[in-house]
Amino acid sequence: MQVKNAIAHTRKYLQHSYSDERLLLQYLQTLQNLNQNISASDLQSLENLTGIPVYAARQVIDFYSFLTYEDPVSYRILVSDNIVDQYQGSRELMRWFKQHLDDRHVAVGTTSCIGLSDLGPGILVNGRLISRVTESRRESIRQLIQTRTPLSAWPAEFFQVNHPIRKSGLLLDDQQPGGTALAAFSDYEPEQALQTIQDSGLRGRGGAGFSTATKWRFCRQETADSKVVICNADEGEPGTFKDYVLLKDKINLVIEGMIIAAKIINADKGFIYLRGEYLTLMPHIYRALESYRSQGWLSGSFDIDIHLGAGAYICGEESALIESLEGKPGIPRNRPPFPVNSGYCGLPTIVNNVETFANVSLIFIYGAEHYRQHGSKNSSGTKVLSVSGDCRHPGVYELSFGTRLSELLQMAGATEVQAVQIGGAAGHLIKPEHFGRRFDFDDLATAGAVMIFNQQRKLLDVASNFADFFVHESCGFCTPCRVGTTVQSKILHRFQHHKAAAQDHDNLQKLVQLLKASSHCGLGSSAGWISESLLNDFPEVFNLPDNEQASAAFFDIDSALLEARNLAGHQ
Ligand SMILES: Cc1cc2nc3c(=O)[nH]c(=O)nc-3n(C[C@H](O)[C@H](O)[C@H](O)COP(=O)(O)O)c2cc1C
Ligand code: SF4
Repeated sequence: MQVKNAIAHTRKYLQHSYSDERLLLQYLQTLQNLNQNISASDLQSLENLTGIPVYAARQVIDFYSFLTYEDPVSYRILVSDNIVDQYQGSRELMRWFKQHLDDRHVAVGTTSCIGLSDLGPGILVNGRLISRVTESRRESIRQLIQTRTPLSAWPAEFFQVNHPIRKSGLLLDDQQPGGTALAAFSDYEPEQALQTIQDSGLRGRGGAGFSTATKWRFCRQETADSKVVICNADEGEPGTFKDYVLLKDKINLVIEGMIIAAKIINADKGFIYLRGEYLTLMPHIYRALESYRSQGWLSGSFDIDIHLGAGAYICGEESALIESLEGKPGIPRNRPPFPVNSGYCGLPTIVNNVETFANVSLIFIYGAEHYRQHGSKNSSGTKVLSVSGDCRHPGVYELSFGTRLSELLQMAGATEVQAVQIGGAAGHLIKPEHFGRRFDFDDLATAGAVMIFNQQRKLLDVASNFADFFVHESCGFCTPCRVGTTVQSKILHRFQHHKAAAQDHDNLQKLVQLLKASSHCGLGSSAGWISESLLNDFPEVFNLPDNEQASAAFFDIDSALLEARNLAGHQ
């Protein structure tokens, strides 16, 4: 009965027609959110009702970290554990919960980053975000759990997430009522609209900065009867939370940008792929979609469904995201074909970041010329940044492209800064001599995470935390990344604990090149950037071996990789 209800509940909120296979991940998410686990009998019922074999469901559960078969619990607490969270007390918080909630109805663990770096320490309780878990709040949570109070009766303010907006610009200042972008767009023919986006110079905000008009043109040229628009709201990069703010405060701009995209490429299907951590945003987004439906902007000819991720960073990579939307483990696809030619279910598909769609709306509201007046020559418009770490004013900053990092640090009240990580774990660590660099696709290109570290922080702790993140998040498909991320983590931890051997330094250098050159997707090729930053710009952090024990720790990278390659049958 429970599984039947879960299936009905999942389908109730969806507009497109789907086979059960395509909804497998969504069914499992619903079951997980109902009971905080998925039982063997649930899987058997699912097989009986849908024909999806238990083993296929298990493959999906094994891939996504939020899906579990552990014993049922009433409360599952996950403490956000990126390095900035740790500096805000996440480890101590986890110990406290473990000690004070030693109860078989409660599970306590960590998760990589839940998007609360400016409001830490943060936790997820049964999939819901709770920010600023102070001593008094953690004590209240303990009492609520001990009295078995359902989450629906917890104080509403526990679940309010209010990222401070420290600086706003063209996007965050926009106060136009819903429908303004669509009304402006209705004056354009699709080709002319595409030209307008090209004239605006808009480049994707998901990290790579690819021209939005070029991507959409490729997809428009495809002649298929059915095409797909996907909004990438996976926002999994440690230290980022700006898409949360846009989904919460600027959802009209995001939805209208998607509708404009659909009209330009001639799409009938739309999806918002929302990271599982943002479950509590789902009703808000759904209400906004309903409002567009009631006004006739969304209908049978183009509609948008929300699909939830389940705790896998790799699903932010567009081809992995598409696999996940199809109900499968999020393993990146080979390219070509590119999604614009063959994406969701083989249909021509565009995938864009939340902020990109919001910018498309701005371009039609204010015009390409006005839009271009913001930003720099090759990077028009503004960039929304998530700022966290050692500064007085963490939060969201919308800056014109071309703004210097030093200006941001000043606005954020950051002093005695040792280094700034730009772009999250998959980014680069910038040294003070380079704080004059600019936010720009030709200079400091970033999807938006800025983490500040002062002189007291140990950069090897930072790097080791990021390296551990990649070990956990590597999907395991290719050997260089699967093995390479583990070796990187081991080497960095040896340096961190003063147990490194001289060869470790050479190995780390080789490994960085290997990860960059041989990985199947962007996760693996960027996983070594943190080590590369340390090797190039902070060489002093690498302590030399000082005892025999250290030499004994020597690790032969070539043999390790060879063994792994042989096991996996990859050369
Ligand atoms: C490991 C990995 C994770 C990614 N995560 C995200 C993400 O959370 N959000 C996002 O928009 N793009 C992410 N991307 C980039 C997407 O693959 C894709 O380039 C982007 O969504 C395209 O949108 P844009 O053209 O609007 O930038 C990720 C890429 C990789 C390799
Ligand atoms: S590089 Fe890493 S994340 Fe990407 S496919 Fe290979 S193993 Fe998976």
